Amino acid sequence: MPARLKTRFTEFFDIDCPVMLAPMDKVAGGALAAAVTRAGGLGLLGGGYGDADWIEQAHRDAGNERVGIGFITWSVLRTPELVDQALSHKPAALMVSFGDAEDIIAKAKAQDTPTIWQVHTVAQAEQAAKAGVDVIVVQGQEAGGHGMDRGLMALLPAARDATGPDQIILAAGGIADGRGLAGALMLGGDGIMMGTRFCASAEADDTDIAKAGLVKATGDGTVRSKVFDVARAVDWPWHFTGRVVRNAFADKWVGNIEDMKMRAAEAQEAYNASQPDDHSIRALIAGEAVDFISRIEPAGDIVARIVEEASDLLKRAPRYAE
Ligand SMILES: Cc1cc2nc3c(=O)[nH]c(=O)nc-3n(C[C@H](O)[C@H](O)[C@H](O)COP(=O)(O)O)c2cc1C
Repeated sequence: MPARLKTRFTEFFDIDCPVMLAPMDKVAGGALAAAVTRAGGLGLLGGGYGDADWIEQAHRDAGNERVGIGFITWSVLRTPELVDQALSHKPAALMVSFGDAEDIIAKAKAQDTPTIWQVHTVAQAEQAAKAGVDVIVVQGQEAGGHGMDRGLMALLPAARDATGPDQIILAAGGIADGRGLAGALMLGGDGIMMGTRFCASAEADDTDIAKAGLVKATGDGTVRSKVFDVARAVDWPWHFTGRVVRNAFADKWVGNIEDMKMRAAEAQEAYNASQPDDHSIRALIAGEAVDFISRIEPAGDIVARIVEEASDLLKRAPRYAE
């Protein structure tokens, strides 16, 4: 029988595994989201900055599987019609990250769509709880992609204390195996959301070169910075940084970000002139969890293994209390 683990998160969504796919901008397409849902978790489409055609294609690719969708808040606030478009698909959940999302949450709740808000500080967790969100994802700085600078180990229990015992909370950042899932449950979480581990899956919408790069990379070799937002001329709010695998381009600028801002046109030109899969220049987005990735696997196998590992660890836990 496939592994199952019951938490408030699985009960809320009526699923078997407390594992959610992070809505990674365009990497989490319909095939990946559907595979995670099929395995008993919850797959979210990576709506990212917002693209109407991509949203339609991703839903077609997900077929009849029950999937949700996530957006980058500050970006989608500029195109609210995309939230309406997403809600018209009756998603399993609407997730938002990176910005004040009260209006989007209210709109989704009015349509009875479950809501998820990813946060990076205790204050943001309180803000999300006050907005009445169904699930809070607490993201630590270990995470791949954008985030802030608090580590998950202290942030997760602090967010639990701040939002109370009834709030459903998922942990994110640096988790890629059963130890991470079991640990997240002990720290006050009701499950996990993973990005980096699912990037290295068969179904992820990324190149084979990028996936091979994840297998090769180490957590020590990742860095959180503003370099690639400046290079890509994406106007992210300045307090969010992005974790990527460190490369020659990052090495050049990471300690000189003020200089880079002054020479932004030069940096952007060099970045844009490179081939999209030249990861000596282009960002390979990934978090510290690359330490635990040794091969590309079907997403369903990843979900099953992590839940089995966590179940085994939890069954062995009582020995510590004797
Ligand atoms: C390639 C990649 C793209 C991401 N894109 C988004 C995004 O578009 N929206 C979002 O809310 N989070 C995004 N994230 C962050 C995830 O939501 C999540 O916090 C993170 O992946 C969790 O940490 P982990 O990578 O260690 O599993 C991205 C992460 C990665 C690795």
